[in-house]
Amino acid sequence: MENFGEMKTSTRVLMGPGPSDAHPRVLRAMATPLIGHLDPEFLVVMDDIKAMVQETLQTKNPLTFVVSAPGSAGMETCLVNLLEPGDEAVICIHGVFGTRLADIAERCGAKVITVEADWGTPINAEDVKKALASCNPKLLAIVHAETSTGVLQPLEEISKMTKEVGALLVVDAVTSYCGTALKVDEWGIDALYSGSQKCLSAPRDFPRLPLAKQQ
Ligand SMILES: Cc1ncc(COP(=O)(O)O)c(C=O)c1O
Repeated sequence: MENFGEMKTSTRVLMGPGPSDAHPRVLRAMATPLIGHLDPEFLVVMDDIKAMVQETLQTKNPLTFVVSAPGSAGMETCLVNLLEPGDEAVICIHGVFGTRLADIAERCGAKVITVEADWGTPINAEDVKKALASCNPKLLAIVHAETSTGVLQPLEEISKMTKEVGALLVVDAVTSYCGTALKVDEWGIDALYSGSQKCLSAPRDFPRLPLAKQQ
């Protein structure tokens, strides 16, 4: 039964884009007694977290919630709920995670139109405009900060173009959340997901932050 002993991990200094070191207060919170998901105390915690997430995302959207799941689950949640077979989706790719968005959109049965930029550079707004004009897009999905290259993608202009053609804007903010401004309401972001293990420095898989805006 050697695999079932008390868990021990070494102390490391985590310097990558994530997972990152958690504050001792966060680690202490994880050692508190478990409560059920219907416990009135749990509901208070959920409401508090929701309010904090809304504040950090600069949104008043009531459909803001955390789930215990990886960032990829947020990606899948947004796309499988917004895309139906036959829909057209413009997916921007300037690194690994844009490619994953395109893969999931294809598996949803969508016709994927990609807009690509060389790794290390942001997506060009003119290329986005052309792609949006070439089809009847249900949505445009884009990574705000490409972890694989460190490039921050400006979103305002792309959001404006997306609105002009009546498409939804889906944003991957796994790496940008709490590391740079994310003005969900001002920028007209319709659905956004993130993760806690990067700039927020919370433990991986607790909690994740998908948000979807109802039109
Ligand atoms: C930009 C981006 N999107 C999505 C993901 C997927 O997140 P996870 O590994 O938690 O599934 C990552 C992970 O590094 C990421 O950096």
